[in-house]
Amino acid sequence: MNHYDRTTVRGFSQADTPVHQSPGSGMSLFQAAMLQHAATVGIGDPSWLSDLEGAGMVAELEREMARFLGVRNVLAVSSGTAALHAALLARGIGQGDEVIVTPYSWGQSISPVLFVGATPVFADILPDTLCLDPQSVSDRIGPRTRAILPVHLFGDIAPMDPFLEMARKHGLAVIADGAHAFGAEVEGKSAAGFGDACCFSLGRGKLVSGGEGGLLATNDSGIFKGAMAITQHPSRSRREFGFDCDSVHDLGLNYRLHPLAAALAVAGISDLPGRLANRRAVWTAFREGLGEALVLRPISYPSTDSLAAYGLPLSWEGDPDRRQTFTGLAQEEGVPLRCGPVRSPLHMRLGKADLPFQVKQHQSHLAGSCPVAEAHCAGKELWALSAIDMDTVNPENAFEMGMKLHELAMFQ
Ligand SMILES: Cc1ncc(COP(=O)(O)O)c(C=O)c1O
Repeated sequence: MNHYDRTTVRGFSQADTPVHQSPGSGMSLFQAAMLQHAATVGIGDPSWLSDLEGAGMVAELEREMARFLGVRNVLAVSSGTAALHAALLARGIGQGDEVIVTPYSWGQSISPVLFVGATPVFADILPDTLCLDPQSVSDRIGPRTRAILPVHLFGDIAPMDPFLEMARKHGLAVIADGAHAFGAEVEGKSAAGFGDACCFSLGRGKLVSGGEGGLLATNDSGIFKGAMAITQHPSRSRREFGFDCDSVHDLGLNYRLHPLAAALAVAGISDLPGRLANRRAVWTAFREGLGEALVLRPISYPSTDSLAAYGLPLSWEGDPDRRQTFTGLAQEEGVPLRCGPVRSPLHMRLGKADLPFQVKQHQSHLAGSCPVAEAHCAGKELWALSAIDMDTVNPENAFEMGMKLHELAMFQ
């Protein structure tokens, strides 16, 4: 009963779906059609409201995503944060362990490390890409290091080869945060194809969204089974792996994805090609419009064809005291430029009182330990278009916005 044929629901097909309509500006027509479908077939079918065994829309989402991402296993969970938490727990990472993380990301990239009781050790970032600097990561590997957690920030895949090499040499796990990188590829391989696990978000602004949700993608059956046992109802592990599965003990968490969120995300896959193409075109047009502007440096990746284009970050290369004023001038011209998105480096947030976890002190938590990330947050970071803007702006608008910024930058 749960099977959803996306070509026939209420007469909508992928071709009818407007590309600029979800999720930044609300549900797409295709997602709305899916909800109508659910409202019709869900009457009398409890699995649309709660799916303990993960057998209905959740299973369909996982199958579709595994195919799209090119991995053996995808576990759908309630958020990207939950996916990272589950991956760390399933790899047995906890108290006494160290995980090398970036100081420059959304807080949820590292909060799962804190909540498993491990110590985050911060390595610095590269100024060009704002992703983890392999040399700095290598310098911070020690006897307690158990994992490296790279973030595929702003929709491009971090250069993974050096991390995978270090992981092989030192016996570490590589668990990536791919919240921004759904749709990104390197030589035909998705972000999920690198490392032990890659965790995606289906939250607001993501290329495929269920409103909320997350995915743990892995080729490692131990991580998959472990994460399932920790985050899902025991009946799911029983159904998939039989009654003898060691991990069916009913002492886990509930990180299940709501079946309606799964249904929205399945419908979102149909919107994906158009939305990804639009985000890439917006990204390219904006940068063409911006051209060479001395005080504004786009964050540049070597592999732009693979980009998932999660927003448009820039680096302010002018007088740091003029950065805020410049954003005001840009906004007056209709460009939604703002200081952000990270604002304060993650390692410098750990000294605050009343944190809801115990954190073992480490010298990488001190100011001065990650100078590139600190300087970027203090006076350089700019966010020209957010991920949601990337869906609501078209390439022509983006080109004009880039040109306006170029003109403003000439007088700085
Ligand atoms: C880089 C990054 N990591 C992790 C997350 C957490 O994802 P979620 O909000 O689905 O928990 C986000 C959320 O946007 C994110 O941007």
